[in-house]
Amino acid sequence: MKVTIDGISVEVPDGTSILNAARVIGGDIVPPAMCYYSKLAGSGGKCRTCLVKVTQGSEKDPRPMPKLVASCRTNVMDGMVVQNITSPEVIEARKGVVEMLLINHPLDCPVCDQAGECHLQDLGFEHGAVKTRYEFDRRTFNKIDIGDKIQLHMTRCILCYRCVYVADQITDNRIHGILNRGDHSEISTYIRKAVDNDFSGNVIDVCPVGALTDKTFRFKQRVWFTKPVEAHRDCENEKCKGHVTLWYKGEDVIRVTARKDVYGEVEDFICNSCRFDKKKTSDWVIEGPRKVSHQSVISANHYDSLKPLPVVKTNPVLQEANKTQFERETRL
Ligand code: SF4
Ligand code: FES
Repeated sequence: MKVTIDGISVEVPDGTSILNAARVIGGDIVPPAMCYYSKLAGSGGKCRTCLVKVTQGSEKDPRPMPKLVASCRTNVMDGMVVQNITSPEVIEARKGVVEMLLINHPLDCPVCDQAGECHLQDLGFEHGAVKTRYEFDRRTFNKIDIGDKIQLHMTRCILCYRCVYVADQITDNRIHGILNRGDHSEISTYIRKAVDNDFSGNVIDVCPVGALTDKTFRFKQRVWFTKPVEAHRDCENEKCKGHVTLWYKGEDVIRVTARKDVYGEVEDFICNSCRFDKKKTSDWVIEGPRKVSHQSVISANHYDSLKPLPVVKTNPVLQEANKTQFERETRL
């Protein structure tokens, strides 16, 4: 099937979604996806951030589609022509979707552990309005304790359903889900139970916002002050490959996560033992520093230009003036 997205043509197999066809091309033309997750069957169709315009339905029937469509849920047809970032209508609609997602989302990025790797933060930066038009009370929820490893902040949830699919498809025994309907929908455990099974920690990795975060990493460090390193171990759990990213602060591993691809999706789900119990360097075989995109806030403080210039290295007065920077560099 030949599909053209923002003027770039690509051949993809029958049954490929527009979003995945765009991912074959890669780069800026790939629509953002807050709920679709290629490793989770049935995901997608909830958030509408991936809207695109189909200006030609197919070679056989060249009529445009009457409305913008969710690219994660619409399959390509031979000869289809799609617009994403080249369509002002799509950009405007995406702005509206971001406004909707932010209606109830608290502005607590300064204290949220997901800050710096939050997809909603990125979307807000790219498409968000400076001011909100919403005048009503925000949704609030009673705090629910879901165990000693995972923190739930329901006010931050965008109801993407990814964590529910993880519990359904990756763990043996789902005990949490979405309760109630409409504005009252919330992530919860059925009878106030701790979310606890070998793969429950993966809900943290798939959550696109800071609604589910790692309690063992909570408030420990801003992610851009850490140093991610790829590592692996022979995991005793046969379903876990033990391929992870270790997040270092100085000598200490302060967090373990699954490895994520350019779309923020995990390459392999990992077990709780790798994630929560193996926080010593000696537990792992280190492969090397993780490649971080230079646009990512995580790469802040890792730029070469931050290294002291040669003249600073040899001048004691300048060294004193740059003391903080020197110290930071040795810590990182
Ligand atoms: S808690 Fe996170 S992963 Fe689960 S539905 Fe809400 S936003 Fe999605
Ligand atoms: S990613 Fe397509 S609707 Fe959410």
